[in-house]
Amino acid sequence: MDRKKITPLEIQAMKKQGKKITMLTAYDYPMALLEDRAGIEIILVGDSLGMTVLGYENTLPVTMDEMIHHTKAVTRGAKYALIIGDMPFMSYNTSERDAILNAGRFMKEGAADAVKLEGGAGVKEIVKAIVKAGIPVMGHIGLTPQTISMLGGFKVQGKDAQAAQKIIDDALSLEDAGAFSVLLEAIPAPIAKRITERLKVPTVGIGAGIHCDGQVLVVHDMLGLFDRFTPKFAKRYVNLSELMLKAFESYREEVLKETFPTDQHSFHIDEKELSKVK
Ligand code: KIV
Repeated sequence: MDRKKITPLEIQAMKKQGKKITMLTAYDYPMALLEDRAGIEIILVGDSLGMTVLGYENTLPVTMDEMIHHTKAVTRGAKYALIIGDMPFMSYNTSERDAILNAGRFMKEGAADAVKLEGGAGVKEIVKAIVKAGIPVMGHIGLTPQTISMLGGFKVQGKDAQAAQKIIDDALSLEDAGAFSVLLEAIPAPIAKRITERLKVPTVGIGAGIHCDGQVLVVHDMLGLFDRFTPKFAKRYVNLSELMLKAFESYREEVLKETFPTDQHSFHIDEKELSKVK
């Protein structure tokens, strides 16, 4: 297959052509390599790495340095996918200057192609400023984990008319600010459908139903590598935890029984040479 590096413009063209967009998170080189090989169009270095990889309670402690470190690994692994760096809590909400400088770090140090940040109308000016600096932005509305205490926990957003209208208005604000696409998390499918129909830019959904222009999953959820918290929308395609645990146990057992390493896994030296060694 003749493949070229995917750009935000190509992601937008996919909406016009009615082609579904696939997106997954990745936090390291081997995962990025495989997702890229599978043809995934967008790889998000999500701040979910705080929970899935770094073992934090939530995404709030994640720092810019941690995000850059993982973004570098992902961009080394993926040649074709559009790589988005997820701006962590307090890296963009403090001022437009901070937002531009931190978004710039994703591009300069992490070699990312775009950034994502959480919030709707409230971050419109920040999105505008980053886009004006030449950095493509994906918005993220609905359930926004960085403001989980304000939202009262991990729950579906936009369940009544007023809340649903606010999410639609937020999506329109982000498009107006220049976001090249908008991620919709944990909102009723009919609301995601309305947003997808009203926006010119593509929507990518997680827990937002089938009508979005694309879908995203947290890779550790879909591989069964994170079970501290499994949202209803996280489909598990394989249980890697179970397979890995079996492999670790087999290795330990073989070392204890001295059935590993075998001759096949060992190096040899000529007998004559060996005899000269004291
Ligand atoms: O950080 C993350 O993994 C996300 C998900 C919603 C995809 O933002």
